[in-house]
This record gives sequence, structure tokens and C-alpha cells, in this order.
Amino acid sequence: MCGIIGYVGKNDATNVLIKGLHRLEYRGYDSAGIALITQNDIFLRKVAGRVNELAQTIEVSVPQSNVGIAHTRWATHGVPNDVNAHPHTDCKNRFAVVHNGIIENYRTLKKFLEEKNHKFISDTDSEVIPHLIEEFYNGDMMAAVKKSCSYLEGTYGLVIISLDCPDRIIVARMGSPLVIGKGKDEYIAASDLAAIISHTDQVIYLKDGEIAEVEKDHVKIDRRDVGLITPEIEHVTLTLEQIERGGYDHFMLKEICEQPVILRDTIRGRLNYDDGIARLNGIADYTERLRDADRIIIVACGTSWHAALIGEYMIESLAGIPVEVEYGSEFRYRKPVLNKRTVCIVVSQSGETADTLAALREAKRHGVSVLGICNVVGSTIARETDAGIYIHAGPEIGVASTKAFLAQIMTFALLSLLLGRLRRLSIDEGRIIIEAIKRIPDELSDLLECLPQQIKEIAMTFKDHKNFLYLGRGYNFPVALEGALKLKEISYIHAEGYPAAEMKHGPIALIDKDMPVVVIAIKDAIYDKVLSNIEEIRARYGIVIAVCSEGDTDLKKYVDHAICVPYTIDPLYPLLTVLPLQLLAYYIADFKGLDVDKPRNLAKSVTVE
Ligand code: AGP
Ligand code: GLU
Repeated sequence: MCGIIGYVGKNDATNVLIKGLHRLEYRGYDSAGIALITQNDIFLRKVAGRVNELAQTIEVSVPQSNVGIAHTRWATHGVPNDVNAHPHTDCKNRFAVVHNGIIENYRTLKKFLEEKNHKFISDTDSEVIPHLIEEFYNGDMMAAVKKSCSYLEGTYGLVIISLDCPDRIIVARMGSPLVIGKGKDEYIAASDLAAIISHTDQVIYLKDGEIAEVEKDHVKIDRRDVGLITPEIEHVTLTLEQIERGGYDHFMLKEICEQPVILRDTIRGRLNYDDGIARLNGIADYTERLRDADRIIIVACGTSWHAALIGEYMIESLAGIPVEVEYGSEFRYRKPVLNKRTVCIVVSQSGETADTLAALREAKRHGVSVLGICNVVGSTIARETDAGIYIHAGPEIGVASTKAFLAQIMTFALLSLLLGRLRRLSIDEGRIIIEAIKRIPDELSDLLECLPQQIKEIAMTFKDHKNFLYLGRGYNFPVALEGALKLKEISYIHAEGYPAAEMKHGPIALIDKDMPVVVIAIKDAIYDKVLSNIEEIRARYGIVIAVCSEGDTDLKKYVDHAICVPYTIDPLYPLLTVLPLQLLAYYIADFKGLDVDKPRNLAKSVTVE
């Protein structure tokens, strides 16, 4: 996600736009730009870097203007640089557009427009939008924008200016947030209230499928398939701080709760149901090498290493390719045995983790193909890999990784589906996986409706305990590791994750009436084995908090707390079973009054050895 803003009114547009961008920077900050309507043309400035750098760039040269747009970017397509920064314009610089979202069919649209002699200068998906407007404009701006939007597949929040309509901005929404603030002889459109609240508390929440034509003292809104509608003005009472966190107390909770939306972005445009296969354009040139690999080594750190473990289980079970998972810090020093048919995958949310980057370089020194699974577009790791898949999780502000973890798992599910279909899965088997993948965001949304209250009660009960054990088997063993890490890093309570069966080889000595044991006991192929482990804990007066399958009334007789999640296919269970563990860690840390978003001793990206 990124931050977009537009202004039309009696005041100086630049001042409002730059201040608004600062308020939106938490949404994305790899590059920034501004476009202003002047007497004769559109003034355009864009820089790779923060909003401050943009402000310094225009300080002495910016013209006076009352109409303009601006953007602070979180790149999804095209590395962060001056050219890929927004706003984007048409061939003749008559239209300028800022975009938040992902245009899934941009390649097709770009080809369609190039065949009509449109010239593109950036690598972004967004740039097709001003060229579509240019193609369809015939004197009616709203009609041109409406027709252009009908060609777009994916998500967009747009603010558009045009030399042909110098006294207005056009605002369009489909899947990305957009709100319009009503001031005195001025209007501001932005990604969220943070950029508006200091100007007005009277707002119009644009809805999906609506396009607004906004002048300084008038708004016209057209709703797809309905026509013109009366704008509904609402009164806002939130503070700025509450707004930046989306009304949540912490970014971590906001990011946990936005996971359903994030996963839709991760899979957007990447599922081909007809052929029962995933489409990963970023690694198109390396798919065969992956398919024919004799071994895949996945290298990562921390939470990304847990996602890598889940990826190992997925790729081996769906595609039958041997996989090893290594810590970056270990791989780089242990003289790994690699050959030409080995493929290395590095996983990193930040794309800057020193140990993972060093491992990447070590693998490349051995002449091995290295692919990346990253969140930050244009990050060092993303740039140094031979190819890669972006997880599209948007900026993750909380130090404890949550939404990026789920997006990494989903990315491995897509990769495993692709490789599985290339090697041994039938179309029908692929379609079953796709159907299960498509259900996950709604299943997560349902869990986020019902789990918090139950988890809060459990967190309040156990927040003062000194030690926890987390147990899981199969796909849920890495989830147990992740649940333990979440608790450790934000509540400072000691916790260990183990394969459930491993407990009897030592850790069982720790079990007593003061030891809460979180057990993931899904009704899968190894459920009975996990049940035995639960009995072993109970026989030693341990406390059992189980994550179990909906409707498993039997299990509830054996445990102290049962947290239910819906059924899905085995490889996708981590996407559901980790959610209660994220929430448990969050509420325990919050009840202990700790700094959830910035835990002690930690950094969001460990760029040192
Ligand atoms: C996870 O909550 C931690 N913030 C940490 O373990 C993190 O996953 C690790 O440092 C790897 O970071 P990366 O994904 O950015 O490479
Ligand atoms: N997809 C657009 C780009 O990569 C917008 C990204 C965003 O919304 O963060 O420039």
C-alpha cells in the first residue's frame, strides 16, 4: 500500500500536499512525487527517497497552484527510483495520476496501448492508467476516467488531474481506501484520514466503484451501474495517532487484522483455476530450473526461517523436490555442498537482513541460481537475487512480523502449487488447492471476528507465567516455533517451540502445574498422536491450551482451553493456526503494558551480523 493525496481549493496546494504526505508516510516511503496544475502545464517532480527529499527538491522551484496530487510509494511493480515514482503521466503530460493498489492486467493493457503508439517510461503497473485516460479522452473527463477504470483489473485508489480540467481533481476507488475531506472552499482526497484531519472533520468515504469529480466548492459522485448519487458527509472524531494505526492500539494488531486483505493482495492475479496452476511471473525464467532441481535450499532468519520450514514441507509434499532449510548465519559459514542443479531461495521481509544477504552471496559464489521471496521491492536482497516473488504484504511497521509471515507462507503455497503441477499434480488436484487457497482470507476474517475475546481471556489468565511450551506436528511444528518466538519477542516471557513428539525426549521434565503448553491439535492425519502428547502433559498436571479443529468436541474434554479454527487442506493450516498464537502473544504483551510495536533489544531489520 502507499499514500495518495489530492487537493483543490483556495489555498496553496503544495503546502497541503507535502504535509499530507508526511502524515501518510507510514503507508509507504520508498519514493515520493508531486504534480501541480499551473498556467501552462503540469509541474511534476518525483524522487526516490522520503517525502523530505521531495520537499527539498521543490523548495525553490515549485510554482503557485491550487490544484495538485502527490504520492508516497510502497513499490509493488518496478523498483523504487525517480522514474517509477508517482505521479505518472500520459504521452503529452496532460493527465497526471497517483495510484494505490495493484493493476493485475497491466501487461495486457500496456501492450494494447503500445500498439496505439503510447510510449511508456516506467516499469510500474500504474503507468497504464494515464495512458488509458489519454486514449479515451474526448472532452469529457469523467467519461474518460470511467471508461479507463472499466479496463482495470485489480485494485486502485486514484487521484487524477488534467490540463483540460484545471479546476478539479478526479477521484476513483476500487479495493483501495479513499476518503474526501470537505473544507471551506477546498477539498482534500487521500488514502486515509491522517492527511485530512488537520483540515476538516467533515468527510465523504468513497466506496468501491465510485468516481468523484471534485471542484473547490462542489463534489459530484458517480457510482458504477447506478449513476450520480448524493455525497454523504460524515463527522470524524478520531485523533491523528488513532488514525495512523487505523484505530488500533498498535501497528502489530492492525497488521494482524489486515492479514485477510494482505493475502488477497499476495494471491491477486496469480491463480489460474482453469489450468489448476499458479502464475508467478517474477520467476518465469527459472521455473524449469526449479522443476528440475535435485535440491532446493531455503535460507532465512527468524520468522522468515519459520515460513521457510513450512515452505519445505509444502514443496516436498506437493512437488516431490528435496528441500533443506538453513539459517542465513549458519549457511554462510559452513561451506555448503552445492552443485549446478541446486537452487537456493532466500526469504526476507525487509530484504536487508545481513545474514541472509551474506548467504545469498555465498550461494552465488558457488554458481547457484538464487531466487528471492521478499516484501520490500527494490531491497538489497531483492536486487541481488537472480529473480524473485514479491509477497505484496505492504509496509510492516510492527517489529514482530505477522502479516509478512502469512504472505510468505501463501507465496510458498503458490510456488508449491506451480512446481507440483509441473511435476506431478493433476489439474483437479491443483484446483482443489486453489479452492482452498481462495477460502483462506474469508476464514481468517471470520476468526478475527470471533477469536479476540476468547484469546484476551486466556492472555489475562496466563500473562504472569514465566515459561511456555509450544507444540505442533507436521506443518504445525513451524507454527509452534513461530508462536513461541512471537511470545518471546514482545512479552519477554521464555517460550520454546518443539515437535510435539519430541517433548518426551527431555522437555517433558519441565511440565508441571505452572507450565502452560500451547498444543496445535488439528484433526489431520497425525491428530491421534498429538492427542497422546496432550495426555502425557495432563498426566503431569500441565496446563493445555489447544488450537483445534472446529467441532472437535472430544478434545475439549482433555484440555483447559480450546481455540477452534476451520478445516482446510494440510499445507494451508499454518495460515489459520498461527493467528491465535499471534493474538495470544499480542494480548499478553499488551496486558503487561509493554511496547508491542518496538520491543526492547530488537530492530525491524537486522542489518548487522
Ligand atoms: C520476527 O518477528 C522478527 N522481527 C525477526 O525474527 C525477523 O523475522 C528476522 O529478523 C528476519 O527478518 P527479515 O524477514 O526481514 O529478513
Ligand atoms: N502498484 C503501484 C506501484 O508499484 C502502487 C503501489 C502501492 O500501492 O503501494 O507503484
